[in-house]
Order: sequence, then C-alpha cells, then structure tokens
Amino acid sequence: DLIYALKGLTELENKVSKILNVNKVVIVPGNSDENDMFKKDIGKAAARLLMSIIKPGNTIAITGGSTVNYMVKAIQPLSSTYDDVFVLPARGSVGHQVEYQSNTLASELAQKLGAEYKLLNIPDHLSKKSLESITKEPEIQETLKKVSKTDILIFGIGNALQMAEKRGLPEPILDFLRRKEAVAEAFGYYFNPSGNIVYTSRTVGIKLDDIKKIPYMIALAGGTSKAQAIKAAGHLLKNGCIVMDEGAANEIIRCE
Ligand code: F6P
Repeated sequence: DLIYALKGLTELENKVSKILNVNKVVIVPGNSDENDMFKKDIGKAAARLLMSIIKPGNTIAITGGSTVNYMVKAIQPLSSTYDDVFVLPARGSVGHQVEYQSNTLASELAQKLGAEYKLLNIPDHLSKKSLESITKEPEIQETLKKVSKTDILIFGIGNALQMAEKRGLPEPILDFLRRKEAVAEAFGYYFNPSGNIVYTSRTVGIKLDDIKKIPYMIALAGGTSKAQAIKAAGHLLKNGCIVMDEGAANEIIRCE
C-alpha cells in the first residue's frame, strides 16, 4: 500500500511540475489547511532536499514564515560541518511574529549547520528616506552584496492579501492589490496570477535581478488555499524545487 501511495504521489509530482513548469516538485501527503502537522512534513521534506544539495562555500538565503520555520526545525544540528557556508536572511524584517522572521530563521539555520551568518536588522515601517540611508550603511551594504550572490534561496509563498493585511499595509494599498489581482506574496514581492510583480514591499534584501541568477531555489507552501499563490510565484522557479502538500497539488490540477 505504501508503494502504491508513493507511486501516486510521484505521478502527482510529475503532473504538477508540468503545469508549473518547474524542474522538480515534491509532494507530501495531506492538506496543511486542515492540520499544521502536514506543514511540518513539508518542512521535513525540504530539509532533506536542502541537505542533499548544499555544497562547500555556498551562500544560503532564507525568508521567514511558518512553513520555512518547520524546515529549519527539521534540520539536525551538525556543528561545524559547514563552517564555510554562509546563511543570510533574504529580506530585512517584514513585521511577522519574531520567531518566524527571516533573521531569526537565518541564525537558527546557521547554528544548526555550524555555518556563518549575517543579519539584516532593519526596523519595520521606516520612511523611504530612512530606509535609503540605512541601506547605505557599509555593514548593510556588505550583507546585501552577499545576498545578491545567493547560491540557494529558500522561501515561503503566501496569499497576497493575507500577507498584506498581516503586515498592516494601509487600506489604499490593499485596494490597489485587489485591483491588480495580486494573489501571491514571496520575499516582499506581490504577484498577479501571471506571475508579474504588481507591488513591492518597502524592505531591503534580495532583488528580482538577483533571483534570476540564483542556481537553486527551494519554495515551500502547503494547503488548498495556497494553490493559486503557488501557481503565480512558481513562475520564478526555473531551477529548483517546490515542496508542497497534496491539498495544494490537487487544487493546482483542479484549476487547470
Ligand atoms: O513573511 C515571510 C514569508 O516567507 C512571506 O514572504 C510568505 O508570504 C509567508 O512568509 C509564508 O508564510 P507561511 O509559510 O506561514 O504561510
């Protein structure tokens, strides 16, 4: 029965990777919308994948989010095995629970790998001017330069409006996002169903031009409710893998 079930998932993976046009899709059983336990399994599968691709000297950038958090939690501490690996937050903080912020997850992942890390400690809701001047600080510049040379990007995908509300974006922007039909959010960018960016958060970190050059990306998202978002953000992911659950996968197929 187990073999039958795994074969079923492999078929599902092939179907979804064709629809999304990404190299690799990993699907775990269940639906995270119904139980967080399945998100944990997405995290475990992503952790396994990450450990199989890290190479000496790699720079890893990571976003926040509860799904990415499960990936970090699933990694077994391997102190000093990866002392030439560098872990960075993909974006400065974007107003989430602290334990799920990219800074927190970057330092936690680095500690587990025995790797080095640098943080982007930038307060939320800065004015454009303050943000510009902070970005000019040499220390921040140095980190941003490293971020732009990421080898492996690990990121969560969220629903655009949910994320915008969570981040406390003002009503006119929420309205703008609705009008632009924003459906997905990843690393501070908001995407419409065709995968075009319709709005960018005012944070510093990885840029779209950097993303196009990244050799390997791992995206994590689960639940039926994330299907549309995964489809939209999936456009970014030419080289790499999306780890999701059956709930998301079946809905992606149903909407084809
Ligand atoms: O806030 C960080 C982030 O990765 C967002 O870019 C993304 O939309 C969200 O978290 C996903 O969070 P979760 O995995 O908790 O749904």
